[in-house]
Amino acid sequence: MRLSLRELSVSFPDPEGGAAPALGPISFDVADDQFVCVVGPSGCGKSTLIRVLGGLLPATSGEARCDDELISRPPSQFAIMFQDANLMPWRTVLDNIALPLEIAGVPRAQRYEMVRSLLPQLRLEDFEQLYPAELSGGMAQRAALGRVIVQQPRVLLLDEPFGALDALTREKLSLELLRLRQRYMQTIIMVTHDIGEAVLLADRVLVISRRPGRLVEDIAIALPRPRKPEMKYHRDFIQLSKRVREGIEDINA
Ligand SMILES: Nc1ncnc2c1ncn2[C@@H]1O[C@H](COP(=O)(O)OP(=O)(O)OP(=O)(O)O)[C@@H](O)[C@H]1O
Ligand SMILES: [Mg+2]
Repeated sequence: MRLSLRELSVSFPDPEGGAAPALGPISFDVADDQFVCVVGPSGCGKSTLIRVLGGLLPATSGEARCDDELISRPPSQFAIMFQDANLMPWRTVLDNIALPLEIAGVPRAQRYEMVRSLLPQLRLEDFEQLYPAELSGGMAQRAALGRVIVQQPRVLLLDEPFGALDALTREKLSLELLRLRQRYMQTIIMVTHDIGEAVLLADRVLVISRRPGRLVEDIAIALPRPRKPEMKYHRDFIQLSKRVREGIEDINA
């Protein structure tokens, strides 16, 4: 699905009764099937952007559209994942991933079948009966990823989904996301603080300025796919990472 933002801005009420700008105005388009990473300083409005795109928060002015339709409530073909896995502690891995299907009224046998076909790709096939408290951080995020992918969203919004993981687990999981993406979903917008992760995953990296966040750089990542961890040592990769880094540094200068 195509996304487009036009002069979108968000303000929050401040203590004096005024409005404090948090984001924008910002305009950009995301083509169908594109993987876009968003980077920028803390507090610049990245999570706010994700919430507006997900229909969880109204824009103060301007608009966000999906395939020309105004986003005013959570679109059914969108899924959102945050930094915290947010699994339900009393449900097994299987039942956590199956939750969106249960809510959608899919019969039990059918939803278990759908989840079980996904488990090997999440490397969770031996752990479906475990409870969240029994999982490592990486396993919990894999289950959370399963819960969004099982919905087969056309648009996936990710807000620092791997932020709490160690570097290697994070890299592994993010490459799994790329593999899953080929099969299950299309457009992805992902917020990350990790420049290497952004360049490794994305077709495009957007650099957002300090609060209120505006678009300062829009960097195309024309690296071949499938992406591989070794690419991080390649000259083109290093050049692109440098550009993203300089974009962020200019903001802080
Ligand atoms: N509900 C709210 N009410 C008031 N202010 C808010 C609200 N949500 C966010 N803000 C403010 O808006 C600004 C942008 O917040 P946001 O969470 O989008 O930043 P961020 O770029 O995601 O930061 P981080 O990288 O630390 O996650 C911040 O200054 C924040 O304090
Ligand atoms: Mg945030």
